[in-house]
Amino acid sequence: MPSTRPLPSPSNWRLLRAAPARRRLLSATLAGLFFPAACVAQDAVRGAALYLRLDNDTRSCVSCHGPDPGQSHNNILRAADSPDTLTKVLNTVSAMGFLRSQLSDADRADIASYLGSVVEMNQAASTLRAWPATLEFGRVAPGQSSAAQFVRITNASATQALALPDIQVSDRQLRAASDCPPRLNAGASCDIKVRMAPQGVGLVRGALVIASQDLARARIIGGVGQGAAGPLSALRWQGGAQVLRFEPSSTTSEVRSLTLENPGPMPVVLAASSITGPQASQFRIDGGCSAGQVLQAGTSCALRIVYTASALPLAQAALQIRSDHANPDALRLEGLAVAQAPSDAVATESGGGCSIGPPSQRDRWDPTLVLTALLALAAARRHRRNR
Ligand code: HEC
Repeated sequence: MPSTRPLPSPSNWRLLRAAPARRRLLSATLAGLFFPAACVAQDAVRGAALYLRLDNDTRSCVSCHGPDPGQSHNNILRAADSPDTLTKVLNTVSAMGFLRSQLSDADRADIASYLGSVVEMNQAASTLRAWPATLEFGRVAPGQSSAAQFVRITNASATQALALPDIQVSDRQLRAASDCPPRLNAGASCDIKVRMAPQGVGLVRGALVIASQDLARARIIGGVGQGAAGPLSALRWQGGAQVLRFEPSSTTSEVRSLTLENPGPMPVVLAASSITGPQASQFRIDGGCSAGQVLQAGTSCALRIVYTASALPLAQAALQIRSDHANPDALRLEGLAVAQAPSDAVATESGGGCSIGPPSQRDRWDPTLVLTALLALAAARRHRRNR
């Protein structure tokens, strides 16, 4: 049985506000006011939405550049804060040609601004990390609520607490609750759960916006889904699992399998799954529940995940499954170091493979390894204490 752990009890969770458009824009760019004009006027929140879906509901950048633009699959981050670069690329990369007529100058500026905020978050010196980068809820009937996609926030600073006064969602159809304190201590983490509750039929786009006077730019997590007329199926993990924890005892890798259920009433076609987050490279999908597979009503599939331990005391990532119906909860992946680490454990650090993006780009997080190790150590201690 995979080990699972419930999220913190509901009493720790408080609901987050949906920001009115003008306020949201203000908070998203608040800190940007003190920075060069290039990152001020654009609406990075809208850029995050456009990364996922165009106004006419066509899948956008995400379909070729993946769910985490921070991995800069196919060098998308070259367009960060540079609408001109994006325009050049739209003119030269033939696969992207269809976007040329669909993205206005304002759209290009918004997307470039969003990509700029992604670059800022991924800089080695960045204090606040948040993952996964994007949330996809799938199709949900109006009046119903989707499963939860969690967003984990970590203060990567070894010394400085971080003010978290203002976490908001940009659209009322996204419902968020968080257990984040007003000040997040150095090395500490907290979670935000986001659900989509469509009010009508049609595209739902929005973002979670995490702004703070301690950050040069807000962190923006884009979210997308559709309000759709039923009947619809909602995928779920067997037993309501939200966390899959790996605790290898003797060898450096461990395989676990988890059951994804379609309770019905409709067959569901599975789409791409992804593992993202700071230690995504240590987790790998090893088969089962693959894209294109049809999950008939009342049936299930088994997803196998391999974890490769490293010198890190705690590896963290997020697993997301997509489909043509309502997607299941995002699953938190946690992997501990081998209890009695063999001396060559470090050598396996980047050997985990990945589900999306070429391996060379998966090493982007490595410069922060030492910091991450410290963080993870603190988290693992807390973790062990809490059990
Ligand atoms: C249909 C697939 C597809 C979509 C959709 C797509 N791209 Fe691309 N993009 C590509 C491919 C393929 C490349 C790599 C081209 C190459 O290296 O020759 C690329 C490259 C890029 C590059 C880097 C080009 C360079 O010169 O290195 C940027 C920037 C970029 N895309 C931005 C975007 C943005 C922003 C979006 C969304 C608005 C987007 N792309 C949507 C396929 C796509």
